[in-house]
Amino acid sequence: MRKVLIAPSILSADFSNLAGEIREIETAGADWIHVDVMDGHFVPNLTIGPVVVDSIRGATVLPLDVHLMITDPEKYAPAFAEAGADSLTFHCEAAADPVKTLRFFRSLKKGVGVSLRPRTPVEKVLPLLPELDLVLVMTVEPGFGGQKFMPDMLPKVAAVRKEALAKGLKIRIEVDGGINPETAALAVREGADVLVAGNSIFGDRDRKRSLAAIRNSIDKIT
Ligand code: DX5
Ligand code: ZN
Repeated sequence: MRKVLIAPSILSADFSNLAGEIREIETAGADWIHVDVMDGHFVPNLTIGPVVVDSIRGATVLPLDVHLMITDPEKYAPAFAEAGADSLTFHCEAAADPVKTLRFFRSLKKGVGVSLRPRTPVEKVLPLLPELDLVLVMTVEPGFGGQKFMPDMLPKVAAVRKEALAKGLKIRIEVDGGINPETAALAVREGADVLVAGNSIFGDRDRKRSLAAIRNSIDKIT
């Protein structure tokens, strides 16, 4: 099995000290930095724009995993690509024609991901797998950090893994929402290999300890 990557979500970080927070998770062993972009329309919250991504780009060498929870992802993706995103994930519910959108994203020469909210059936993304680098399975309703993990989303992770194996695809399967040492293990058992964690990492003053707790939990099963 490939190395399971940990992607702390900076949504739960202290924004008055973002560079310091990023340094801390970098030394703690984070693999990617997960950036949650919300537009107050697709989800009822407002967060980060390209200006902030551009600043973060200057503060770290880690890949920036940008999760676009926005309406009209094609309109804004180029600005995030330009700002230094390494992968761009859009929600299939936000695209009238997800194949068209993913091909447009592909033209930006970044990693391409598709995400699905809890009520969206996994069948919506399975046909897209051959053209994707990543599938992001939401394990909470998108919009806010600190929510409770929804275990009934785990069969979606398993279904993506099954389809990827059947087709011989090397796609990353990311889970996002309510990940802690316990739920991380559940997700990895079903085939997840990128774990987004906000509250469980930044909620502990010692980020090295909280990140290590997730790492230790998954090391036991991989
Ligand atoms: C929710 C975001 C998540 C969130 C994760 O809409 O996509 O990335 O910040 O935070 P936790 O780990 O606290 O659920
Ligand atoms: Zn996210």
